[in-house]
Amino acid sequence: MPILSDEVQRYLHGLRPQRSEVMREMEALAERDRIPIVHWETGRFLAVLARAVDPVMVLEVGTAIGYSTLHIAEALGRGRIVTIERDPERVEQARGFLEAAGVADKVEIVHGNALEAIGDMSGPFDFIFLDASKDEYRRYLELAEPKATERAVLVIDNVLMSGSVAFPDDAEVPDEFGGWWGLEQRRAARALNSELIDSERWLGSVLPIGDGVAFAVKR
Ligand SMILES: C[S@@+](CC[C@H](N)C(=O)[O-])C[C@H]1O[C@@H](n2cnc3c(N)ncnc32)[C@H](O)[C@@H]1O
Repeated sequence: MPILSDEVQRYLHGLRPQRSEVMREMEALAERDRIPIVHWETGRFLAVLARAVDPVMVLEVGTAIGYSTLHIAEALGRGRIVTIERDPERVEQARGFLEAAGVADKVEIVHGNALEAIGDMSGPFDFIFLDASKDEYRRYLELAEPKATERAVLVIDNVLMSGSVAFPDDAEVPDEFGGWWGLEQRRAARALNSELIDSERWLGSVLPIGDGVAFAVKR
């Protein structure tokens, strides 16, 4: 909360459709165990993009329990998604959910540190989604960019950090604007947002979807 006003947020929540049983279980587990997953609206945005771009190979950094992976995988046509997660318990949970959802054949889960794993991958990736450690985003991008296709799309989650990125460094950020985000994380998000908007290599935008999403395409 609250990048958008409470009223708009409530309206958007009311638009959410009935989810599949597996997706509902994932949402319930994430809520119960406080596992950070994308907002449903971000998941839907990823799915719409996956359908529009029809990628051959998607790279996701940060699987957790596979919630965003499932949104993307369900919308894929010919493509596959490779997703990286360093926490072994999350890898097992994601594997179980993605099998139960019937999309396991479209997904490769790589267990490891993305900072090492991305370099070992050949790609090429025509859709990149970053959603792991916020202060490592820039390094994921540096590693993934050489493996991106000419018209690759890039999505990065949490770039508005509940609105906290809008506060100056020395301000006390209220809890409802994401006071829990650290100063270094907020600085990293601000730097990345500016870099993408000003980039000569990416045509970038910052959108108030979910927790804030950067959306870019190769120039
Ligand atoms: C926000 S969660 C991912 C949520 C997931 N994309 C979703 O919406 O369903 C971030 C995940 O990234 C993982 N992670 C953080 N840093 C990582 C790294 N360097 N390499 C691999 N995984 C990492 C964490 O263990 C955590 O499970």
